[in-house]
Amino acid sequence: MEFEKLLKERRSATFFDKNKELADNLIKEIIDLSTLAPSAFNTQPWELIIVKSSEARKELYEKACNQPKVLEAPVTIAIVGKKNGYKRENPIWDEKIKNKTLNSESLQAYMDMCENKLYNSDVKKNAYAVRNASLFAMTLMFVAKSKGVSTHPMIGFSEEAVKELYSISEDKVVVMLISMGYFNEEKKLFPREKRFSFDKISKVY
Ligand SMILES: Cc1cc2nc3c(=O)[nH]c(=O)nc-3n(C[C@H](O)[C@H](O)[C@H](O)COP(=O)(O)O)c2cc1C
Repeated sequence: MEFEKLLKERRSATFFDKNKELADNLIKEIIDLSTLAPSAFNTQPWELIIVKSSEARKELYEKACNQPKVLEAPVTIAIVGKKNGYKRENPIWDEKIKNKTLNSESLQAYMDMCENKLYNSDVKKNAYAVRNASLFAMTLMFVAKSKGVSTHPMIGFSEEAVKELYSISEDKVVVMLISMGYFNEEKKLFPREKRFSFDKISKVY
């Protein structure tokens, strides 16, 4: 699908067809393509929890303000951001050394910059995790749309409850939930709301 058309047609789907499953290989394909999303130093600080079974959907629905799409969509994905994803343990650093895009001296310099400047507080680590994982999330919504699959992003959920449900550690943040499936063609969405234009949102220096 041409990108501009895709952009204009993507909506937060709200109504999913309960009777239409999403094939596992399609879910996997959408996720694999979404990994092409950009991230700081290509550290890819995200993890996904894929909620598929009806029992698991019911549990998540209760933590997500009882939003019906979590029950109706065949899949809801919790996008988790890793606050410590930039650290040396991330195998992407070894990859850079192996590919000679980085030498061990510059690696040390990057590590120092990350620890002492870029991510030297919990607020900054949190921002790092949320910024990067949000780009993954947006990419996933576009990729899904390009495959004829609808999505709905949500931050209407209890992060504490979702973390407890999936034993997510303190160094991670549940960035958003995305329900994914086929739109229920018997329903109609409200018309798309107005967007603020260039003049309203831009300052030019
Ligand atoms: C980060 C984020 C969180 C959102 N959380 C919710 C939510 O919890 N429940 C909901 O019904 N919609 C949620 N939405 C959907 C927005 O309301 C929707 O994207 C917006 O109204 C624009 O509509 P559109 O996506 O159809 O263009 C969320 C969207 C984003 C990007």
